[in-house]
Amino acid sequence: MTDQAAGIIPFGSTVIHSEPVDCSKPINRTNIRGKTIVITGGASGFGKACFEDWASHGANIIIGDINDKAGTQVVAQMRASTNNSNHHFIHLDVTSWSSQASFFKRAASLSPHGGIDCVMANAGVAIAQENAVFEEPPDYSKMDHPPQPQMKTLDTNLNGLMYTTNLALSYLSRNPGSARCQVGQNTGTRDRHLILVSSIAGLASLPSQPIYATAKHGVVGLFRALRMTTPIKHGIRINMINPYFVDTPILGPMGAVVLAGGGMATVPDVVEATTRLVADQGIIGRALVIGSKTSQEHAKAMGLELETTDQAVWDVHADDFAQSDLFVRRIIGVTNLITQARGWGGIVSDVVRKVSGATWKTLGY
Ligand SMILES: NC(=O)c1ccc[n+]([C@@H]2O[C@H](COP(=O)([O-])OP(=O)(O)OC[C@H]3O[C@@H](n4cnc5c(N)ncnc54)[C@H](O)[C@@H]3O)[C@@H](O)[C@H]2O)c1
Repeated sequence: MTDQAAGIIPFGSTVIHSEPVDCSKPINRTNIRGKTIVITGGASGFGKACFEDWASHGANIIIGDINDKAGTQVVAQMRASTNNSNHHFIHLDVTSWSSQASFFKRAASLSPHGGIDCVMANAGVAIAQENAVFEEPPDYSKMDHPPQPQMKTLDTNLNGLMYTTNLALSYLSRNPGSARCQVGQNTGTRDRHLILVSSIAGLASLPSQPIYATAKHGVVGLFRALRMTTPIKHGIRINMINPYFVDTPILGPMGAVVLAGGGMATVPDVVEATTRLVADQGIIGRALVIGSKTSQEHAKAMGLELETTDQAVWDVHADDFAQSDLFVRRIIGVTNLITQARGWGGIVSDVVRKVSGATWKTLGY
């Protein structure tokens, strides 16, 4: 079936999102040089690996993490190996708004050009035992004071990421010397780029981990809502990564055992996917899944087309996003038409009705 027959409107040049990412294209890492990049949870795993790669290509990296020892160590190592004193560690607890607000303020003040080009909202935890209350709910009826469930995974991976996003939008839109993002174009040395770290668990089911899955689905929801508006309103590009399981400390020993022998994604592939998004300023509003390397045979069996041999990174949900965004565009279009047709008279009568209704209510009628 053709795209048109399936009702899919192709991305055109006037649309703010770029076309699906071509993962076979070489990455131009020279574009990373001189950028100030902020990474939450940058002391370990993906954050640390991205730090190492981007710093070695000339970026100034500022990491925030709850783990002071690991964060301080990685910054010292990278300052020495790159001979660049513009890498910094700042203590950060993403679950605290005040911690995040002072982290961003300090990061911008430490940046050589006084601004932030890119934010990777990455900090996360996966506390498996928190899920027990959903998998095996206690008999609350027999308790006088049932304990409130612990949901640090949600606080960190969703609420924390939303604080990061809010602050990132504020700082990125005011990045000195930056220009608004433009589809397919490198808009200069400065950038306005937010990368959300979700997971395959934000797109697929993750049985037995409802809290983690909810948080990561929430990140996808945030991405889908913001990717419509932030490029248009603030010239900020938002992209997302959705890695499959990767052997990092977040998995813990049990996770690694459960996944032993299965196909997993790798840290270098996560770094490559994220670097592609950072280095190509023309990529706007896209999401990449990072899976295990896929052979021609396996890809064919799943109806996928390989762009490179042993491909591990895939642009995801392009059509789904196009469809739902189209739906949203139409709803907004219809609403605007109705508003236009009713004119100022309609708005005034709605306001009067609302205000007088509230007045009657206040008076007890
Ligand atoms: N490893 C995987 O299989 C996998 C797959 C998909 C998505 N992810 C996501 O990738 C992100 C990075 O995970 P990772 O695999 O690199 O794990 P990791 O444990 O190696 O790194 C996570 C980092 O976040 C930090 N952190 C935790 N809570 C924090 C807080 N409140 N404030 C600040 N920092 C905090 C940790 O100290 C750590 O340095 C997470 O959001 C995770 O959910 C991981």
